[in-house]
Amino acid sequence: MTAKRWTLAAALCAMLAASPALADENTVTVGLILPMTGPSASTGKQEKAGAELYIHEHGDTVAGKKIALVVKDDTGAADVTKRLAEELVGNEHASVLMGFGLTPLALAAAPVATEAKVPEIVTAAATAMITEKSPYIVRTSFTLPQAAAPMADWALENGIRKVVTVVTDYGPGVDAEKWFGGTFEKGGGMIMQKIRVPLKNPDFAPFLQRMADDKPDAVFVFVPSGFGAIFMKQFVERGLDKSGVRLIGTGDVTDDDLLAAIGDAALGAVTTHHYSADHDSPENKAFVAAFEKANNGMRPNFMAVAAYDGMGLVYKALEKTKGDASGDALLAAMKGLSWTSPRGPVSIDPETRDIVQNIYVRKVEMKDGALFNVEFATIPDVKDPYKASKR
Ligand code: DHB
Repeated sequence: MTAKRWTLAAALCAMLAASPALADENTVTVGLILPMTGPSASTGKQEKAGAELYIHEHGDTVAGKKIALVVKDDTGAADVTKRLAEELVGNEHASVLMGFGLTPLALAAAPVATEAKVPEIVTAAATAMITEKSPYIVRTSFTLPQAAAPMADWALENGIRKVVTVVTDYGPGVDAEKWFGGTFEKGGGMIMQKIRVPLKNPDFAPFLQRMADDKPDAVFVFVPSGFGAIFMKQFVERGLDKSGVRLIGTGDVTDDDLLAAIGDAALGAVTTHHYSADHDSPENKAFVAAFEKANNGMRPNFMAVAAYDGMGLVYKALEKTKGDASGDALLAAMKGLSWTSPRGPVSIDPETRDIVQNIYVRKVEMKDGALFNVEFATIPDVKDPYKASKR
């Protein structure tokens, strides 16, 4: 071959290598974007394990299509989430985007999902309005109004009259403050103080001191998954656990992933949420055992179950479309699907694309030598009340 021909061949090879991988029509790529590092890394770790367990249990082929799970670390930064979402749909031909550990991250991917007509399955972030930001968003986690409003009902029924609320100052915290507080006041309760603490480097100590002076019946708290231990440590340091102030909240603060680290300070906390590793059902017993086996004894939390169900949603939708992985077909198939999750019966509301699920009232108790959120009451089939209130 002449030198000129060699140059031409090399240039051709370089061009081919640089061009995006050709879409393989027998493979369905699911791009799972999560904070694998940074302050929300526990969400990433739990979600990745949940999605992988589903594939492990159900095989990597569905309706004739091979499932390829591609996990990307957005470090919890929204600009990175957006870039990764663009790369996944543009270069890796992802048919589904999934994950999103915090509300700003889910919002950053929304325009990408809309533009590419690719379903965005939100398996973590929980601010109510997220699903309104793209017609391609479907959610398998929960919404804060869905979890927080039942807490107010329980508090009112159990002699709690004066409450201080403490929330992380961003979307889900504002939702929790509004839907716990609004429901509580409507029922005759009094919110003595509303405290908001920054998401970055939270320090609850000054607020907790102010709160102790108010002598409320209870403190209602929302912090995102992974932040509960800092709150609880400072709660105990101020002696609030022994002051007779009850601790109530959504279940994010007594996260199953953190309960052992929080320790006895969590005992007696009453929270409302959609998942506890202690949920008593055959599906959950099998899920917890398989999850712990696959992950060195790690206990699954509500993030793990949402990613497990998110992956399940992809499989069920593909079965329904007989393998058609185009965005609009998948989205149409997801609407109205129902199944038995480890958390209990769930369905995707065809109008809002949010999950409809039981909310459980739970209390932290010692059981067989370990701390658990022990469920003692069930509010069945709860829809996101924020969207219901707008109709
Ligand atoms: C969000 C994050 C969490 O870790 C959580 O427990 C609830 C909500 C969020 O950012 O939407």
